[in-house]
Amino acid sequence: MLNTLLTKAGAGEKIAMLTCYDATFAKLLALAGVDVLLVGDSLGMVVQGAANTLDVTMQDMIYHTRLVAKGASATVIMSDMPAGSYEHDKTTALTNAQTLIAAGAHIVKIEGGGDMVETARYLVENGVPVCAHLGFTPQSVEKLGGYKIQGKTEESAQIMLADAQAMVQAGVDMVLFEMVPAAVAAHITQHIGVPTIGIGAGAGCSGQVMVLQDLLGIYTGTADKAPQDYKAPRFAQNFLQQAGSVQQAVVDYVQAVKAGSFPEDRHSY
Ligand code: KIV
Repeated sequence: MLNTLLTKAGAGEKIAMLTCYDATFAKLLALAGVDVLLVGDSLGMVVQGAANTLDVTMQDMIYHTRLVAKGASATVIMSDMPAGSYEHDKTTALTNAQTLIAAGAHIVKIEGGGDMVETARYLVENGVPVCAHLGFTPQSVEKLGGYKIQGKTEESAQIMLADAQAMVQAGVDMVLFEMVPAAVAAHITQHIGVPTIGIGAGAGCSGQVMVLQDLLGIYTGTADKAPQDYKAPRFAQNFLQQAGSVQQAVVDYVQAVKAGSFPEDRHSY
């Protein structure tokens, strides 16, 4: 299933990815043509009501991966490895990654560049497909000093390119960029041999991902922000407003990604 998707992406078809945390939405999203269901640790915020992703556990990820797999048996499922499940040693990372695969994931996502390359290589060598998440990495929100665009300077953009290339050398199947200048993400996409997925990273990526709640205009804030104080991220778009039904909103998102009409410049940096 993953190989078929990678072949399509290699032939130039854009990949439409959305986060998904349960069986009902998994079914709906799969029927609407979403290529990849991301069981994101963003569930910490949008399902569990936390301020960030840091307290999401392996048990949470296993549970939600199982639910999504129950709802969509013929769609690629990517599961986030939660904070603390892979950074410390690669043997633990492999055990946890294999547990997510056993729960129904086809590929796991880990955050970080240089210092995570050997972990990615170890997972791949042991048969676990990996997506590398670069740019703004939510599990490092405290270290990064908040939600900040990454790769804005020439030097940091070069480091990001080198990280992406090292990850591809290590065998990852995809690279995801979050909050990266559009020109930087497009340049890296042209210089690595695997599909890239963007969120706040411009239209030059091979595909796009959005948090499902953002697509549906559900902006209820987070644990540390009341709804009236919460500002939706620049890269979010409420597709439901125009669509009239949840199913149609997702279909519209998929079509917009495939046609290259989403994201627009106003969603990018
Ligand atoms: O957890 C998540 O939803 C993610 C996306 C923001 C890419 O990692």
